[in-house]
Amino acid sequence: MLIGVSLGPGDPELLTLKAIRVIKEADEVIVPGENAEKLVKPYREPRVVEFPMGKGREVAKRLAIELVDRIEREKIAFCCIGDALLYSTFSELAEEVLKLNKNAKIEIVPGISVVFSALALTKTFVKKSLLITTNFEEEVVAVMKAKKSGEIAEKLREMGYKEMKFVERLFMDGQKISTDIPKEADYFSLILGVKR
Ligand SMILES: C[S@@+](CC[C@H](N)C(=O)[O-])C[C@H]1O[C@@H](n2cnc3c(N)ncnc32)[C@H](O)[C@@H]1O
Repeated sequence: MLIGVSLGPGDPELLTLKAIRVIKEADEVIVPGENAEKLVKPYREPRVVEFPMGKGREVAKRLAIELVDRIEREKIAFCCIGDALLYSTFSELAEEVLKLNKNAKIEIVPGISVVFSALALTKTFVKKSLLITTNFEEEVVAVMKAKKSGEIAEKLREMGYKEMKFVERLFMDGQKISTDIPKEADYFSLILGVKR
């Protein structure tokens, strides 16, 4: 299995317990640079695979070729700063692995993005919307408090978000993850709209 481990924004206290456990248990731990290396070192000696600017895809392809068979038998943890889903080297690696084997086992340990750490440090509360982007084109929107899920889905569809994912009561009794959007939902729900 290939596991993308989110290391949080750089404060060693903001690593999750799960990230630490996965790092300790993995057969090999890989990091893409010294910032991630520093956070992992108290638990394991990681292997550093640099992803130089502009050469990330090339490195990801090479690493994917090396790992694609190994992850059938071993647990390989690839750790990155912030959250592993956001603009990360892990996303390139995961894409390349999936090109070689579309059934490859990939998991992600979520973590605290630099974005959320910046919000906390600057005491910036989000009450309406938060756009995380590199180019001001909304690609994924997360609509929180999605009790009126049917109406929200309709609006998202009109706005061109053709792909939608509904998440309700995550890690609670009655957890639901679906691409079907119900008319109404629990307070503990959100809708992800994806425009690609
Ligand atoms: C490759 S992205 C990684 C984002 C990361 N996966 C996350 O969830 O926050 C790198 C960008 O994250 C932000 N970043 C990462 N570390 C940072 C830090 N220590 N201080 C400020 N911004 C940082 C910067 O915008 C930087 O260009």
